[in-house]
Amino acid sequence: MNEDSHPSHRHQPVAVVTGAASGIGRATALRLAREGYELALLDVDPVGTAETCERIRQADGRAHPFRVDLSSPDEVASVVGTVEVNVGRPTLLVNVAGIGVAATVLETSDEDWDRVLAVNLTGPFLTTRAILPSMVAAGQGVIINVASVAGQIGLARRAAYCASKAGLVGLTRAVAVDHAKQGIRCVAICPGTVETEWIGKILANAEDPAAARAAMAARQLDGQLGSPDEIAAVIAFVAGAEGRFINGAALIIDGGLTTA
Ligand SMILES: NC(=O)c1ccc[n+]([C@@H]2O[C@H](COP(=O)([O-])OP(=O)(O)OC[C@H]3O[C@@H](n4cnc5c(N)ncnc54)[C@H](O)[C@@H]3O)[C@@H](O)[C@H]2O)c1
Repeated sequence: MNEDSHPSHRHQPVAVVTGAASGIGRATALRLAREGYELALLDVDPVGTAETCERIRQADGRAHPFRVDLSSPDEVASVVGTVEVNVGRPTLLVNVAGIGVAATVLETSDEDWDRVLAVNLTGPFLTTRAILPSMVAAGQGVIINVASVAGQIGLARRAAYCASKAGLVGLTRAVAVDHAKQGIRCVAICPGTVETEWIGKILANAEDPAAARAAMAARQLDGQLGSPDEIAAVIAFVAGAEGRFINGAALIIDGGLTTA
């Protein structure tokens, strides 16, 4: 590494995006790269993360892939240390990675409950705890947690998922309250139904994929699904200087799903 390329000699802000191999995380990474951030992309899927990296580099952006299981405290602590040394100290953390299980409480196994909570709630706790100290030392930082409308309302057969996302909204508020005076903002984004690989898999497994898609689309007031780019645009706005007054909020971006 020559002197110019050493992290401390660069002026590009560093952002960490989790879940960057796919869907909303990938769209967010691509958008933030266009906004001038250097990206550390964290995901358990190295193939998808490499593809996101490649797309950012092709557009003259800077991105670095890191394979990590975000539910593992050791892996998260280790990867954040590596990011801080090799890429730089992040001023933006976007927690996007998440998983879901279609089940009522009665249908939810101990393993599924633990796994959903571990990825969707413990993961953002671990990344936040690891990255906050350098943000606090710098006197600035933004943490954005991608929750869900499932953190605001009950969704059928999504017991663990709803609990994890409501917990993530609570974590967001707690971090905002505790660290605002240190220059930190923490905001939750609550998307409705967004057309990603995840939704593609749910539809592909449906008995009648076309009918399932139509039913999903009908939940939005204008009958259309959201796009990952639309969520990424909100994340970029919240992260930027114009988002300064947004703190501790849970922003619902759902095409009106929760208002119907
Ligand atoms: N798509 C929607 O309709 C929708 C709606 C509301 C909220 N969300 C939330 O948005 C986020 C992204 O969803 P998406 O639709 O883009 O999903 P996706 O499945 O396309 O992407 C999720 C990413 O998270 C990664 N991931 C999963 N477990 C991980 C782990 N243990 N460690 C590291 N990475 C892991 C996956 O590899 C994948 O790249 C999720 O938190 C989801 O709950 C999605």
